[in-house]
Amino acid sequence: NKVVLAYSGGLDTSVIVPWLKENYGCEVVCFTADVGQGIKELEGLEQKAKASGASQLVVKDLTEEFVKDYIFPCLRAGAIYERKYLLGTSMARPVIAKAMVDVAAEVGADAVAHGCTGKGNDQVRFELTFFSLNPQLKVVAPWREWEIQGREDAIEYAKKHNIPVPVTKKSIYSRDRNLWHLSHEGDLLEDPANEPKKDMYMMSVDPEDAPDQPEYIEIGIESGIPVALNGKALSPATLLAELNTIGGKHGIGRIDMVENRLVGMKSRGVYETPGGTILFAAVQELESLTLDRESIQVKDSLALKYAEMVYAGRWFDPLRESMDAFMEKITETTTGSVTLKLYKGSVSVTGRRSPNSLYRQDISSFEKSEIYNQADAAGFINIFGLPMRVRAMLEKGI
Ligand code: ARG
Ligand code: SIN
Repeated sequence: NKVVLAYSGGLDTSVIVPWLKENYGCEVVCFTADVGQGIKELEGLEQKAKASGASQLVVKDLTEEFVKDYIFPCLRAGAIYERKYLLGTSMARPVIAKAMVDVAAEVGADAVAHGCTGKGNDQVRFELTFFSLNPQLKVVAPWREWEIQGREDAIEYAKKHNIPVPVTKKSIYSRDRNLWHLSHEGDLLEDPANEPKKDMYMMSVDPEDAPDQPEYIEIGIESGIPVALNGKALSPATLLAELNTIGGKHGIGRIDMVENRLVGMKSRGVYETPGGTILFAAVQELESLTLDRESIQVKDSLALKYAEMVYAGRWFDPLRESMDAFMEKITETTTGSVTLKLYKGSVSVTGRRSPNSLYRQDISSFEKSEIYNQADAAGFINIFGLPMRVRAMLEKGI
């Protein structure tokens, strides 16, 4: 039997390779997904995986798929978890897990394994995706089974099994990076009262150190999906990468929050989402021209549920897919462009235009208008306010 392991090349997943062979007597195929986390030495990675005892390493570039089929739908939906979190890690797990299911079929594996702990959200996201796409795969989660407790144990295990200890500098934080975001958890962040250290951040400068000159950019949007930057059409991943550079330079998209994990505990996390923060501002703003009041209300209420499902790993659930069909339909006319001003950590909208705009200056203007007759408002208010008048009459005995 054969197992496909989600492999990063770090200490934990390096130790999982011999552990799987020892405890399950299986061949281990390592799998690494490129989701824009910035993998530097892909060649070194294969040697590393083999030195740990893997029979092979499979690498797949999922970047464009990740942005196009996972990130942009969430953006179009306006999915934000607990008022702040732009779901960077939550969206990456299903695309990685789906690729693992494919690799398992390609190499003829009957099991999959991951290095998530038993205390987090990620284990749920991986495993719900495995369940949805191939319910017959066996799932192994070493952190929920083995004796290894921390870094020292892991190094000792590696030495005992004669596998080279990866020289990667292990940071004190638990981090997860992809093209959308970088998350920081653990160490001094575990006390929610502590301010993060300045040198923790990696995708953005401190807003205080950002340029003194504001920068204007224009985002082009088609049916709720960003397609262009400053008039230039770009692929999803290229657009996002460019916005990360620009946003990071201006200190945009830092979020510091305490969130409720699916497994019940609270957890403090700090996120950097520079490009994503700009894109959220742009897409939501354009809806102010293209959607009416009730459409925005219903869309926003569904966005809450949509975000909750993505956070909980229910990506391949028909309910999320159905809500996505709603989001696609309601944003059909959300096409146009938004101009934004970036300055020391803030994104402000300075202009928006759309060929499908419901805004009409000839109606809304303070100048005299032909279509709207002010005299009509009197009758409207009388009837609209009738229940309030009736109640007041009752209270006052009229
Ligand atoms: N708390 C965030 C989430 O649940 C980030 C998790 C980061 N994961 C990690 N393996 N470091 O989506
Ligand atoms: C982990 O526990 O593996 C990381 C944190 C999380 O999944 O929420």
